[in-house]
Amino acid sequence: MASIIRPQMLRSALRASATASRAATRPVKVAPPCQARWLSKSSSLRDQPPWDDNTDHDSASTTGQPGESGEHEGALARTDESIKVEYPEEEDLPSSMPVQGRGGFHFKRTLAAFSLEGRVGVVTGGARGLGLVMAQALVASGANVALVDMNKEEASRSAEGLVATFEAENPGVEHLPKVTAHYCDVSSPTSVNQAIAEIIKEHGQIDNLVTSAGFTENYDAISYPHDRIQKLWGVNVDGTYLWSVGVAKHLMERKAQGSIVMIGSMSGAIVNVPQPQAPYNAAKAAVRHLAASLAVEWAHAGIRVNCISPGYMLTALTKKILDDNPDLKNKWTSLIPQGKMGRPEDLMGAVTFLSSDASLYVTGADLRVDGGYTVT
Ligand SMILES: NC(=O)c1ccc[n+]([C@@H]2O[C@H](COP(=O)([O-])OP(=O)(O)OC[C@H]3O[C@@H](n4cnc5c(N)ncnc54)[C@H](O)[C@@H]3O)[C@@H](O)[C@H]2O)c1
Repeated sequence: MASIIRPQMLRSALRASATASRAATRPVKVAPPCQARWLSKSSSLRDQPPWDDNTDHDSASTTGQPGESGEHEGALARTDESIKVEYPEEEDLPSSMPVQGRGGFHFKRTLAAFSLEGRVGVVTGGARGLGLVMAQALVASGANVALVDMNKEEASRSAEGLVATFEAENPGVEHLPKVTAHYCDVSSPTSVNQAIAEIIKEHGQIDNLVTSAGFTENYDAISYPHDRIQKLWGVNVDGTYLWSVGVAKHLMERKAQGSIVMIGSMSGAIVNVPQPQAPYNAAKAAVRHLAASLAVEWAHAGIRVNCISPGYMLTALTKKILDDNPDLKNKWTSLIPQGKMGRPEDLMGAVTFLSSDASLYVTGADLRVDGGYTVT
């Protein structure tokens, strides 16, 4: 339909154009130049303590001297340098068992995309703790698994335990999963390459990697021994990097797709209180961003890289730490919206999701499994 121009519209259009042309020819008034003046006449905030400032704004928020209105000020948001927790020596580390009763075949409907049938998964730090439980999730979902750990003996016991638990939970099953144990110090490139070669020899391939080898300890930053910081970063950061690169190279050589899941921590996004642990927090922030960076770098090859950031999980080791520091547990749980620490099993679904085709379009993500800690 042709558009209709009403006479009234035409008149207002003509008026508008006349006003515009008058404005264009009118001389422009130029403002007199400003006198030079100081940007601010008030004294620097650095020159006076904040509690001397009696502006309305400050009296509505906080005007007192730190500590003036009571001990509670900032108390829940500070680190306490008196807390020192050193990672225990190997012989003092409690071992853990596969979880029972959750790995049996079932007949509930679920997406086939969650299955890891035919895949080979590697779990570093798989001898115990969260690594062992995540390895169990991969086995229950159909994968064969290689447990990699500095403690080979314990990894071997755990491998046997995983197969025995699987058999007990799936009586009469035709094929038992293959679960092997391998020595590796994840912070050493030579050791990582040797372990990768050994696993490929035994399993033929690697499709999935979960990097759980890592540890935390608590020292205030000033007194943290430098060699311990290097060790902490070596295991948590270098170990994650070396294993990811090794497995990605293998996948690219095979022209196969794969999934890498890095175990970070909520400490990579927040600062835990009250225990001081700056190097650990920085290490886990590095892990989270490594996942994002490598996800971008390897997307073209069909290799997905994601991070799981657990909150406070109750493993044999954290239980020991809390038994030694009873106050700490109350402080921690009071900061978790769900009001409780996580069970290692709470990571089983997350690791299966990110390892399987159920998450084919998820890469570079950080999946927080923390009872809501980091959203408050
Ligand atoms: N437990 C928690 O509350 C919690 C919370 C957030 C993140 N995390 C992270 O989860 C991962 C697993 O923690 P966990 O609680 O199961 O600890 P864990 O101590 O129970 O298990 C860690 C495993 O890593 C192995 N390991 C340590 N150094 C190694 C090295 N250099 N080479 C090879 N293996 C090595 C240990 O032998 C052990 O079997 C860590 O990266 C940790 O930072 C744990």
